[in-house]
Amino acid sequence: MTTPEVSSATPRLRRSLLWVPGDDEHKLAKAPTAGADSLILDLEDAVVPTHKARAREVIRDTLRSMDFRGAEKLVRINPLETGLALDDLTVTMAGAPDGYMIPKVRSEDDVRFIDRALSNLEAISGRPEGSVGLILLATETPEAILNIRRIAQASLRTAGLMWASEDLSNALGARRSRNEDGSLPDVFSFARSACLLSAAANGIDPLDMPYLDFHDDAGLEREAREAADVGFTGKGAIHPAQIAIINKVFVPSDEEVEKANALLEAAREAFARGQAAFVYEGAMVDAPHINRARKIVTRASRAREKSS
Ligand code: COA
Ligand code: MG
Repeated sequence: MTTPEVSSATPRLRRSLLWVPGDDEHKLAKAPTAGADSLILDLEDAVVPTHKARAREVIRDTLRSMDFRGAEKLVRINPLETGLALDDLTVTMAGAPDGYMIPKVRSEDDVRFIDRALSNLEAISGRPEGSVGLILLATETPEAILNIRRIAQASLRTAGLMWASEDLSNALGARRSRNEDGSLPDVFSFARSACLLSAAANGIDPLDMPYLDFHDDAGLEREAREAADVGFTGKGAIHPAQIAIINKVFVPSDEEVEKANALLEAAREAFARGQAAFVYEGAMVDAPHINRARKIVTRASRAREKSS
């Protein structure tokens, strides 16, 4: 029987993931000061077609020379069907990023294709096989949502799934991706839930889409909280001003940490008595509650390490 200790092998904290246009040297230089857990150097929608080739080189050189101040180094490549993706990978792998964000994924075959390409590039560049990670934009095509469970399982490199509504909206020919009251129409709500469930079922990060109105702090905080409340572990960002709000929301509060520690203490005592299910504050507690408490404590201590 395992005891409910906090594991030391904890995954990376990915509360905030900031996009930076891959051809904008000013924003690239500024990005590490934003305090985001991950920086996504973009080759896709933030770069006009005529700048793609130059942006690859700018990103490669930035990866080589810039101090990321501990932020995860991610590159968003172009979708497979554009014919640009392999060159995106080949040029930027020379800068040794931590991982790639893959947009407009359609099926597990897309993920396997990228996985194999990365294995080849790892062999060429002398990096350990499987060391380069993947974050998948897994709700940007209608096919992806229908295939999302298999997409989540297709590669051991996959560390997270992000949901996003704008490209799905285009693919559907939808007139809007929000109701007038700001809530999500059914099909978008389904996509968001599918992302959360598939990520959780595979033990990878469920990530919420960016909030595009970067002047609306209250709206950002509300949306981030709603996401954190149901289990999303982080959120995309498009502007440095969004990072502090997101980082705060995706860390458990002191009160949550205190409660989690008390529950873990009770679990230790129950385990010592030989009980895996026990009564705590009048209700039954067992493995899922203990695991949840453990995650809260781990995330809080990772966030403390980051800020110290
Ligand atoms: N990364 C790094 N720095 C950024 C930034 C980002 N994503 N967004 C803004 N900045 C910088 C600006 O360059 C500016 O720097 P300065 O004060 O030294 O001139 C400062 O932060 C304030 O920016 P602001 O003037 O408020 O915004 P802007 O008009 O320059 O840019 C956007 C607004 C939306 C164009 C910009 O935030 C952006 O490019 N976001 C990312 C877009 C993207 O990658 N989209 C694809 C994924 S959805
Ligand atoms: Mg897009």
